[in-house]
Amino acid sequence: MDTKEISKCMRTQWAGRSIAFFEEIDSTNTMAKRLGEQGVPEGTLVIADCQTGGKGRRGREWFSPAGTGIWMTLLLKPRLLPDKVSAITLVAALSVCKAIRRVTGLETMIKWPNDLVMNGKKVCGILTEMSLEPDHIGYVVLGIGINVNQTEFPEELPHAWSLAMAAREAVLSVTGETGQDERTETEAGMFSREEIIARIWECFEEDYGIYLRTGDMSGLRGQYEAHLANLGCAVRVLAPSGEWAGAAEGIADSGELLVRDEAGVLRMVNSGEVSVRGVYGYT
Ligand code: BTN
Repeated sequence: MDTKEISKCMRTQWAGRSIAFFEEIDSTNTMAKRLGEQGVPEGTLVIADCQTGGKGRRGREWFSPAGTGIWMTLLLKPRLLPDKVSAITLVAALSVCKAIRRVTGLETMIKWPNDLVMNGKKVCGILTEMSLEPDHIGYVVLGIGINVNQTEFPEELPHAWSLAMAAREAVLSVTGETGQDERTETEAGMFSREEIIARIWECFEEDYGIYLRTGDMSGLRGQYEAHLANLGCAVRVLAPSGEWAGAAEGIADSGELLVRDEAGVLRMVNSGEVSVRGVYGYT
């Protein structure tokens, strides 16, 4: 993977028209923030083949080995109020879902707010960070990590999964445990990371355009909920005021999860305040 190969696939208007590619870097989010401080244009895309200090949410590390995954961050400069920024991660989750489907045929689902899962395991995580000026947003960095062609994960990541592993499992379930069918190797082989990257930013340009026009998730809610792994699931909400249980019914226009509690009251759950257990049983 290099800038030339990625650019060849790109058909976007502004997202990823300028690419900063690194064989190895600490974190594409950190680099995008550095570039944001230097005033590079909106739509600049930082991509790394390998991250030595990949960052996950809640201070976790993000496993980012060379040659297998997509580790990238887009620089955005939205004219939005800060409280509208967190929903950009929901928009991105939807775009990634659609792009993966288009390139690989695989159906990933969204674990609210923005993990992509298959068979109860995580294939993609999204980390959005922003810089705030006194009266406006300086910039937003939208970091996306996708496990694409890994064939295994370290023991300490029991919930991690890759698109290639999911494809192989799907082929085996069609061809039987022996995997004798000759389609196995080709169909469950390596996916083109360049193609997936290009399709993601095409989908994102469209979805983000809708989000900016409406100023909320109303124009994307139907599509988002169609991919929502939590839909109808029992969830436990770990709020600072105490833990409670309910069933997820969808998302609000603001992007919060709608959960009906055991008393029958529909409550809005904010990702900044709580963790939601369910789908693969971790928070
Ligand atoms: C999560 O914890 O689910 C979020 C993971 C986000 C990982 C991506 S990889 C590209 C970008 N650079 C980082 O350091 N993190 C994000």
